[in-house]
Amino acid sequence: MTVRQTLLALEAELNALSFEREDLVRGLLLALLSRSHLFVLGPPGADKSRLIASLMARIEGASTFSLLLTRFTTPEEVLGPIDIPAYEQGTYARIVTGMLPTTHVAFLDEVFKANSAILNALLELMNERTYRNGGSTRRSPLVSILTASNELPQAEELGPLYDRLLLRYEVGYMADEANVTRLLSRPASARSAQNGRAHTTRVSLDQLEEAQVEAAGVHLHEDAISVLLRIRSDLRQAGLVVSDRRLFQALGVIRAQAWLEGRAMAVDEDLEVLTHVLWTEPKDRRTVAERVLTHAAPASAKALELRDLAAEQRKIALEKRTTSEQEAAEAMTKLKGLVESLVALRRDLHQRGSVPPRVDRALAEVQAMRREVLRTCLGVEV
Ligand SMILES: Nc1ncnc2c1ncn2[C@@H]1O[C@H](COP(=O)(O)OP(=O)(O)OP(=O)(O)O)[C@@H](O)[C@H]1O
Ligand SMILES: [Mg+2]
Repeated sequence: MTVRQTLLALEAELNALSFEREDLVRGLLLALLSRSHLFVLGPPGADKSRLIASLMARIEGASTFSLLLTRFTTPEEVLGPIDIPAYEQGTYARIVTGMLPTTHVAFLDEVFKANSAILNALLELMNERTYRNGGSTRRSPLVSILTASNELPQAEELGPLYDRLLLRYEVGYMADEANVTRLLSRPASARSAQNGRAHTTRVSLDQLEEAQVEAAGVHLHEDAISVLLRIRSDLRQAGLVVSDRRLFQALGVIRAQAWLEGRAMAVDEDLEVLTHVLWTEPKDRRTVAERVLTHAAPASAKALELRDLAAEQRKIALEKRTTSEQEAAEAMTKLKGLVESLVALRRDLHQRGSVPPRVDRALAEVQAMRREVLRTCLGVEV
């Protein structure tokens, strides 16, 4: 198996364990491949920690570090305890073995709880990949810091940390009831095997490094650059400014995405991944996705638009079912029409070659909405 095949097998395994986390799973791989840091925003119990732990358990030969931060977490717990014998000899140094500075992949849960003593070291590690110890500056082997939180950073001093989290994902609870059912009816053995200790695909640190080199060699076509510039200027017009650093670093993510898709040259479609790079606040996610997809993947943009329209009709149908049968019926008809439009779009794309996953997902979501509406309003199971 090539490294790429191994990573794709690993991706498939993670997707089999987690429902509705395809984007995040891909993002985790992209972070490792492009040596970027990643942030997951989501409510409690949404599979953030478990998914990240499952990924980390599948990396071999890498030193990993996981910690849940609180306001009271001390620098010792993150950077290492003070080396007492050295201290008695007059040197102030930390024992960094097994601690964040010497780790390849780290999971920092509730990262925005970091206090300023930890924050400064973290910022340097993330950007320069160096740390100071015993009066000298050393190189850290850090590949990626993966982070999760239930909330966005509040304090202004956390801005630089948030800016360094290049890949950003927001997850919610499962949308499709069928997936909830599947999760609940999983045998306990399957659930306990989820932590990655069962028979699983693993990727070694060496393989990962090989993949990073290959991915960094992906060519970015001029067209892709001009699409990127159009997205940038469109977002500016919408009042969403992206720092040049993030834009530049995004190139690494685009390359990694193309590489995972088996391309030596990135195409417009690979820029889709920018939907997970260019937002700062969740309220802007939709605008960012719209602008990115319009330029990078018009068919996906269309699918998203149809899905949003369907969500509106679903809401109307459910709200009006007791007060205005007429309006509810109209909404149901429109919803049916939207399902048909998506099916037609999918068929068209299929005939022309390939169907982007986003289109498939939009169709599945809209079909689930229709099932829900039929069940709730008419008591019909389909
Ligand atoms: N989408 C999902 N797919 C599969 N399992 C899920 C999903 N959502 C939740 N679970 C289940 O819920 C459990 C709790 O998830 P986890 O502890 O990772 O939550 P979390 O998002 O880290 O929450 P917190 O913010 O409280 O730390 C997981 O072990 C998993 O079994
Ligand atoms: Mg958690």
